[in-house]
Amino acid sequence: MERSTEIELLQELITLQEKGSAFLDETVTSNPVGNYYDPRRFEAECDQILRKDPRPIAHSSELAQPGSFLRRDIAGLPALLTRDSDGVAHAFLNICRHRGNQLVQETSGRKHRFSCPYHAWTFSNRGELVGVPHEEQGFPEMDRKCMGLKRLGCVERYGWIWVSPSGEDAPDVDGLLAGLAPDFEWFAAADLRVQHSDEAIREANWKILIEGALESYHFIVAHTRTVAKLFNDNLSTYQRFGPHLRSAISRKSLSELKDMPSDRWHLRDHAAILYTIFPATQIVAVQDHIETIQYEPLSPTSTRVRFSILAPKDRLESEEDLAHWANNQEMTWTTLDEDFSLGESIQVGLKSGANEVLTFGRFEGALAAFNQNVNSRL
Ligand code: FES
Ligand SMILES: [Fe+2]
Repeated sequence: MERSTEIELLQELITLQEKGSAFLDETVTSNPVGNYYDPRRFEAECDQILRKDPRPIAHSSELAQPGSFLRRDIAGLPALLTRDSDGVAHAFLNICRHRGNQLVQETSGRKHRFSCPYHAWTFSNRGELVGVPHEEQGFPEMDRKCMGLKRLGCVERYGWIWVSPSGEDAPDVDGLLAGLAPDFEWFAAADLRVQHSDEAIREANWKILIEGALESYHFIVAHTRTVAKLFNDNLSTYQRFGPHLRSAISRKSLSELKDMPSDRWHLRDHAAILYTIFPATQIVAVQDHIETIQYEPLSPTSTRVRFSILAPKDRLESEEDLAHWANNQEMTWTTLDEDFSLGESIQVGLKSGANEVLTFGRFEGALAAFNQNVNSRL
């Protein structure tokens, strides 16, 4: 992020605070409840967005060593990430080319070759088919070169592994970021390590869970036990970058800036900066680290969420640092649990007939923007 953007964002929050107003969109908007449970709608979202759009699927440190591998699910597409002995990351469909069994069952580990548990066809971590039992008798004409694992476009950039679920071409990350590249430089995420991850399956539509983070209207009510004491009531702002959103959520400490020259302002000390990277990743830049939340939709009404803390490489070992990350993990995972429980509570009532639409107030405009981005692709 440019230094001038840091100052502008803080200035905008200070101005809003002085006016005693949240950032307001033009109008109140709404979203039909069926968008959160209709199976045809969900299939369309999977086909046209979730199984199409490239995304940062893992942090590079989660696939650090040559020979390491990871599994991920991309809206029903089983994906396998590997790092070969030259250090190059690859992404494949985790599907055996014989009769389609899922090749790798473990979620992560280290292996240079993968042997299918059905008939032991074996693939290298570069995707080549390297072993077929009884090949001459059973598959006399087979050209192994045509039977490698199906490759997905994959590139490492800004500390993450970006994967395209819909083709072999490496994603053009800077193009994809639609103006957010300077912010990704600013994260310096290549110098961070995944220090901790949590995973859970929550019974709510993926969009409801994402929306939970897109406004600060609920903080003072829903997060009294956790983060309400750290943030100003309903004082946040957002901007659009192509299909992505950047939200700035002000901390209580914002008021300290009034008497401080702006060259001493540091955005992350006084606001949490939340990036909603379309379609289903959220990245939060907080004071001394980054947090990510990835959403893997499993059905119209259930979603796997993965939360990670990315900490500086040189702050992973001392007892003091470990205690600090453990506190952060506990606080944020508990806060997310509060959000996700509310999401599940919304999901339960959607078909009740109480609401035909969900209503977004003028300070909940980021929810409308997110849904417009989804709708524009269907
Ligand atoms: S399905 Fe994998 S070896 Fe037969
Ligand atoms: Fe929340």
